[in-house]
Amino acid sequence: MTEPATEPTVERRDDRHRYEILVAGERAGLTAFRDRGEQRVFYHTEIDDAFAGRGLAAQLVGQALADVRAQGKRIVPVCPYVAKYLTKHDEFADITDPVTPDVLSWLRERKAA
Ligand SMILES: CC(C)(COP(=O)(O)OP(=O)(O)OC[C@H]1O[C@@H](n2cnc3c(N)ncnc32)[C@H](O)[C@@H]1OP(=O)(O)O)[C@@H](O)C(=O)NCCC(=O)NCCS
Repeated sequence: MTEPATEPTVERRDDRHRYEILVAGERAGLTAFRDRGEQRVFYHTEIDDAFAGRGLAAQLVGQALADVRAQGKRIVPVCPYVAKYLTKHDEFADITDPVTPDVLSWLRERKAA
């Protein structure tokens, strides 16, 4: 018997500093972060072209942000997609910190390392 189509799943990959979204076991996209103390700084989100336009970025980011809360951390939305998502999802406002020049220079050093 054929299995029903599976829902996308989101996994945190600490070794790669990112969350990945899988569709039927295939990686469809990611949102990348670096941790700065209790802050989780999100700086890039991408969905592969083959999977674009079906709401996967929203599912990925929604589950990633819920995981940040579950871990007792805070969100810093450098990634424009994450920033836009947060304007529509007030439920994360209490754990969201502003993007400051300090965070941006810290992130540049991290990514260059
Ligand atoms: C942006 C991206 C992740 C969206 O993936 P997706 O699964 O097709 O997105 P969804 O279907 O969940 O959502 C589409 C929404 O993304 C928004 N969006 C598209 N490109 C965006 C960008 N560069 N910055 C912010 N938001 C963007 C759209 O306006 C749309 O918003 P709406 O829901 O209010 O209409 C994907 O198009 C992508 O990988 N783009 C290339 C990389 C990129 O520009 N990343 C974002 C900045 S790091």
